Amino acid sequence: MRRVKSVILAKGRKAQRFCRYTTASAPLDLESGLEMTDATASDAAQTELLRKKQVAGLFIKDKIIISPKTLENLCQSQNAYEDALKLREYMQRHGIFVLDDKALSLWRESAARAVKTVEPTSAVKAGEWASGVPRAATLEKDLFLSVSDSDVTDHSRCKGTVKDFVDYFNDRFNRLSHQLRLMSSAHDTVKLREAQNRQKKTFNVIGMVYSKKITKNGHMLLEIEDEETMIPLLIPKDSPIMAQASGIMEDEVLTFEAYMSNSLLIAKGFTTPGKLLQHRNRHLCNRPAKIAFLSDLHVGSRWFMQKNFQQFLAFLNGKTGEAEREVAEDIKYVSIAGDLVDGIGVYPNQERELVTKDIFAQYEIFCGFLKAIPEHIEVIVAPGNHDAVRIADPQPALPLEFVKFVDDAENIHFVGNPSIHKVEGLSLLVYHGTSVDGWISNNPNLRDGYENPQKVAMEMLNQHHLCPRYGEDSLVPEPRDYMALDSTPDIFHFGHVHKNGYAENYNGTVIINSGTFQAQTDFQVSLGHQPTPCKVPIYGMNTGKLEVIDFSKVE
Ligand SMILES: [Fe+2]
Ligand SMILES: [Fe+2]
Repeated sequence: MRRVKSVILAKGRKAQRFCRYTTASAPLDLESGLEMTDATASDAAQTELLRKKQVAGLFIKDKIIISPKTLENLCQSQNAYEDALKLREYMQRHGIFVLDDKALSLWRESAARAVKTVEPTSAVKAGEWASGVPRAATLEKDLFLSVSDSDVTDHSRCKGTVKDFVDYFNDRFNRLSHQLRLMSSAHDTVKLREAQNRQKKTFNVIGMVYSKKITKNGHMLLEIEDEETMIPLLIPKDSPIMAQASGIMEDEVLTFEAYMSNSLLIAKGFTTPGKLLQHRNRHLCNRPAKIAFLSDLHVGSRWFMQKNFQQFLAFLNGKTGEAEREVAEDIKYVSIAGDLVDGIGVYPNQERELVTKDIFAQYEIFCGFLKAIPEHIEVIVAPGNHDAVRIADPQPALPLEFVKFVDDAENIHFVGNPSIHKVEGLSLLVYHGTSVDGWISNNPNLRDGYENPQKVAMEMLNQHHLCPRYGEDSLVPEPRDYMALDSTPDIFHFGHVHKNGYAENYNGTVIINSGTFQAQTDFQVSLGHQPTPCKVPIYGMNTGKLEVIDFSKVE
């Protein structure tokens, strides 16, 4: 490209604290905030008073306002002091400065969820099918990993030089503009330099969006560029394409149908690279093979639903009843789309959310689970933003030092994120989905993307790009743009948002977000995000049937 995108982001109310809450008429002890009692109180009452004083003292020290009623409630437990210590930590973590009944019940709910999710790991056993030979074990694997230069593993060449950025944007523009040219007849597509000399007649131009803004009159003004030049392009405010155009993001590569008017290029329509295969038929394979999808296990987190996950593993081994065994018999592949473990230091104060605080121990436990998958099932494992590789996309496969525990397992395959594989002849795109956050915050048409993640995936397919906007999302400018797609996949598997979402046939692609095995975290509670844990989608690659098995009901 002519320009180099320069955006690189790696990167006491002490005295009054009881006044609002206490309604007591008795005088207050200024140290504890408690009502004073007379010396004739019984021993039991004295003990209770002492407990209240100790508990209240904990919060006072941290300048936390406490409601006397809530203090009463908290101190009914024999373990009040221990509870108060945990509660104080919870309040510090969430920036809560008023301890009232609402805060107390939030903490109690949170503690109950955590207790439910943590189980000993010693129960994990090596995978072994219940009895006899499952149907999938009689099928030879039909799997080609990381096809078509789709995987950055062992190919990362970025040094962060200016040339890397130029090569990166050139690669994106060349590959996506080639797809766009295939869609429009060559004679009516002109270079931007040539467009400036055209008058009246409608023609097509292909450009990468450099900037986007709304003028004070409400029109949309884009700057678009190709290899030679950059020109402004206007979308009038009353244009029928205005609503759709509001979703245009910087760095997308688009074809604009346009005309010149008073030296200004005016757009009448636009097309995205993925529209090439808009009416593509869905492909199916010939053999009865199923693939199960997982993501966002977050092993090591106090919220990891281990018992439920072990139930899923028992299902894969045909040990959860006849009806489920009938489904599991045909599972030949498992795809795991990242956030395998919770990691260490991924966000501030994460250690408070971990039950396993050692990254190697987290992966050792994760590998124990992998070993519990029967050997006749081929497992594709990609990393996510919580895993022990670079945080920016594209991510290489997990290094051996973390997963040496399954080094000898020939059915476990560690791949990069994103990457494309041929499974039973069908193309499978596996991408963790870290860029989904950026799509939702930058495209007003995707505001409900956390509730319906499949809509974000549809936009990715429309653009043939997993993360067009450079800068806000964490991207590495490799000489090849691994986030750009050269073709539309048959199956698109992603995760990251902890919410299951599906589109069974979007222009021939089955889109699957496989949710999570992590319970709702405190952070998600504060954001109002409702995850859908323990729901495992399973796709019949010869039937096109998608079924979801729910493992959330395990006691
Ligand atoms: Fe996750
Ligand atoms: Fe994630």
